[in-house]
Amino acid sequence: MTAAADPVKLMKQEVGRAAANLIQSNSIVGLGTGSTTAYAIQFIGERLKSGEIKDIVGVPTSFQAEVLSKQYGIPLTTLDAIDHIDIAIDGADEVDPQKNLIKGGGAAHTREKVVDYLANQFIVVIDSGKLVDKLGSVFAVPVEVIPMAVTPVMNAIAKLGGKPELRMGVKKAGPVVTDQGNLVVDVKFDDIPDPVNLEKTLNNIPGVLENGIFVNCADKVLIGEVKDGKPVVQ
Ligand code: 5RP
Repeated sequence: MTAAADPVKLMKQEVGRAAANLIQSNSIVGLGTGSTTAYAIQFIGERLKSGEIKDIVGVPTSFQAEVLSKQYGIPLTTLDAIDHIDIAIDGADEVDPQKNLIKGGGAAHTREKVVDYLANQFIVVIDSGKLVDKLGSVFAVPVEVIPMAVTPVMNAIAKLGGKPELRMGVKKAGPVVTDQGNLVVDVKFDDIPDPVNLEKTLNNIPGVLENGIFVNCADKVLIGEVKDGKPVVQ
């Protein structure tokens, strides 16, 4: 007897497939991070393998994306070798009605921001549970901080009214370390009335490399849902 397919997994697969289907031949593709984007990477690789699309080159946003892309046969390049990105696909942790995002649940928001903002078209892949009326409703804002500055950065964030917490890894054995060798401070705010300004204010604290607020950059949001036990993408 085979186990019943997990509808949430199926839904993520379908969102990833829908995003992968937007990729056209001869394009430079930003490859995001996370469990939903992982399916997009898989399906882009499958489309390349089957010959449905050709001459794709990817720009990974993380070590995870790099390893997955290699596994699925997507040729990779770096930002030094290209002058544009045609399309980027990436996940998000929260999306507001203006398509502003909180990202960084996978601690990859610094590289993701570079790649996603450079793309001519940025496609966000999420499930409907990520939709919020206001950013910060559920998720904390991830802030990447250089290790020697963690204490003053956390103090400065507390003065701004945020509740900073150093992100710990599995079993709390040690802090999460980013691909750049830095730490992540997750900051819960009671309210984020002005995400545009908060993004700038956080990045102005000495020792902060980048935060997970993405404003005015998403072009399209593909939303997955499970309806009557079946995955639906809109
Ligand atoms: C990583 C991210 C991810 O895109 C975000 O956390 C969503 O991941 P998932 O698709 O697994 O929910 O920002 O830094």
